[in-house]
Amino acid sequence: MTAPDTASADSFAARVVRWQCRHGRHGLPWQIERDPYRVWLSEIMLQQTQVATVIPYFARFVARFPDVAALAAASEDEVLALWSGLGYYSRARNLHAAARMVIAQHDGCFPAMADALATLPGIGRSTAAAISALAFGRPCAILDGNVKRVLARHGGVAGWPGERTVEATLWTLAEARMPQRDVEPYTQGLMDLGALICTRTRPACDDCPVHADCVARQTDRIAELPAPRPRRALPERTVTMLMLRDRDEVMLEKRPPRGIWGGLWSLPELAPGNDPAAHCHMRYGFDIRTPRSLPPLRHSFTHFLLHIEPLEIRVAQRHDTPPGQHWLALEDAVDAALPTPVRTLLARLGHC
Ligand code: ADE
Repeated sequence: MTAPDTASADSFAARVVRWQCRHGRHGLPWQIERDPYRVWLSEIMLQQTQVATVIPYFARFVARFPDVAALAAASEDEVLALWSGLGYYSRARNLHAAARMVIAQHDGCFPAMADALATLPGIGRSTAAAISALAFGRPCAILDGNVKRVLARHGGVAGWPGERTVEATLWTLAEARMPQRDVEPYTQGLMDLGALICTRTRPACDDCPVHADCVARQTDRIAELPAPRPRRALPERTVTMLMLRDRDEVMLEKRPPRGIWGGLWSLPELAPGNDPAAHCHMRYGFDIRTPRSLPPLRHSFTHFLLHIEPLEIRVAQRHDTPPGQHWLALEDAVDAALPTPVRTLLARLGHC
């Protein structure tokens, strides 16, 4: 048996902690104070979104809602408007609901234990562990997408990490490596390793503090691990979006509270092939001038692909607006809670 080299003789955790202190990320806006509200908010924003994108949203959010009580007291519309552009809007609705639960059920204080945190809307097992570790110093193992990649490579775990049995193996590895001390730099270090070193493509293995005993490296399987999600064709849908205009205003409709873009202000939709004039006459009671087709737009969701065919339509004469619809000056639309492709379409009109 060969003697372990000095790097791997140290525990995995000790090497991650030492690396984090020297090379990890420090001074991120949510690291400045150990405030559970800020840690929670950042962890929810960072689900499926990169640090650089999150930073300005986080700054606007804490400026407007400096604590959980301010967030709980806000309207859902205002929360969604500040979230607009970050995507995955169920995160914002859950955030708002969780803030109200923290006020109503926990006296405004976030619980420290991961089990209790995981009962709040939008907080899964890994997010609960991250909050418990980063805000309260509790030794709870995390397993987000980046950490799955680090552990799948280091432990040589085959299979797609989204699969239940593979995920269970990775949780076992995550818990086995979790130290009892230095919980914060270890947790942050694992996240930083995944984001900065053990990247999906072209990882910087020479700079990795745990490369000496990385199974993927030893067995030349870095490019294969973790295994990608098995491919299946995404379903596709096509929809016509009506950009109804009256002078400098455009008509928006509030989406139903649940489902895609729930609660956001969007453009009216029509199944392709339907007559927009007949539709507008029947549904809104106004006549329209000849529609103008604008370039199509594609928007991918995790579970389907949406082809949007926009029609710019001038309204001949507008009547009272029923509830759930809203005429908004184009220049004010930027402040509304809009789905990202709707924002893009309005911006294309050249005013936002
Ligand atoms: N991704 C998820 N949580 C994070 C954190 N605390 N810092 C950086 N990236 C993250």
